[in-house]
Amino acid sequence: MVEIGTDIAVASELLNSGQVIGFPTETVYGLAGNAFNEKAILEIFKVKNRPKFDPLIVHTHSLEEVDRLVSEIPEKASILAKSFWPGPLTLLLNKQLSIPDLVTSGLDTVAIRIPNHPLALALLRSLSFPLAAPSANPFGYVSPTNALHVANQLGSKIPYILDGGACNVGLESTIIGFEGEEPIIYRLGGKKKEDIEQLIGPVKVLLNKSSNPVAPGMLKSHYAPRKSVLIGDIEKMVLANKNKQIGIISFKNDYQYLNPTKQIILSPEGATDEAAKHIFASLRAMDEAIDCEIIVAELLPEKGLGRAINDRLDRASIRY
Ligand code: TXA
Ligand code: MG
Repeated sequence: MVEIGTDIAVASELLNSGQVIGFPTETVYGLAGNAFNEKAILEIFKVKNRPKFDPLIVHTHSLEEVDRLVSEIPEKASILAKSFWPGPLTLLLNKQLSIPDLVTSGLDTVAIRIPNHPLALALLRSLSFPLAAPSANPFGYVSPTNALHVANQLGSKIPYILDGGACNVGLESTIIGFEGEEPIIYRLGGKKKEDIEQLIGPVKVLLNKSSNPVAPGMLKSHYAPRKSVLIGDIEKMVLANKNKQIGIISFKNDYQYLNPTKQIILSPEGATDEAAKHIFASLRAMDEAIDCEIIVAELLPEKGLGRAINDRLDRASIRY
């Protein structure tokens, strides 16, 4: 059975011996292995049940280390890296040959990020290699934002989870790639679009919503609980489903008067940052609650982290 602890030396030793472990970041927990060790990478794909065509993010601890992994950095990428790393931003950059094709699913670019979490940084500094790490959830499911989430789903498959407490951001990193010098947001996430644009000007958002995308992390149905998630006007949805046991996830309003069997308010103060910290744990809690058959949720204002939360709710609500 998995051990949950805070010992960097234990985590480091397991990674050095080619094993994969759970580790904390400020966004979500990752399932980490030596990015240069193909056996470790294969194990990550196996534990997550993830298709090999879905590439992994490589985590490191300094800009000097990033230079060793990529072949060139567009000017705007460099500005973003210097301002926002460590932080919830992933850059897609042309890779050096040292990075195995398995990590990038054969692409010429590698997804890179310096996470902003003291334990993650300490762990990365203790190692002589970067860590490839997807979110530590079974493929397609909601990302984990604390060590117990990881243990509940992957505990029988990994030896150790480095426990860094609840994630501060609560949403996966924002992913930015470049077409020449033009930046494109491919995944909305923990770094706000407004903050990015303030630094480098307007940025196009290109979210893949097909069921057969180039980068499947942008699969239309993703980040999804097992139960049906309905999005819209909460009052209307509750009235239309009177015969069901309903769990409500609201932004800031109290819907207790509708008599749901369960209700979670993401941020009574109406702050999107606060809501982001709780969205994934809330979806999990509803999914696990025996007195809840369907989940109804409302969208947030399309600003700040509201954009990324809405994106995740949208993907969670798709059913084929
Ligand atoms: O916040 C995060 O980004 C977390 C923490 C652990 O760092 N990681 C994470 O990894 O969310 P994952 O694997 O769940 O999502 C990574 C996404 C996937 O959608 C993948 O398709 C995309 O990044 N990706 C990775 N490398 C890529 C590349 N070279 N080109 C395009 N997309 C890429
Ligand atoms: Mg993921």
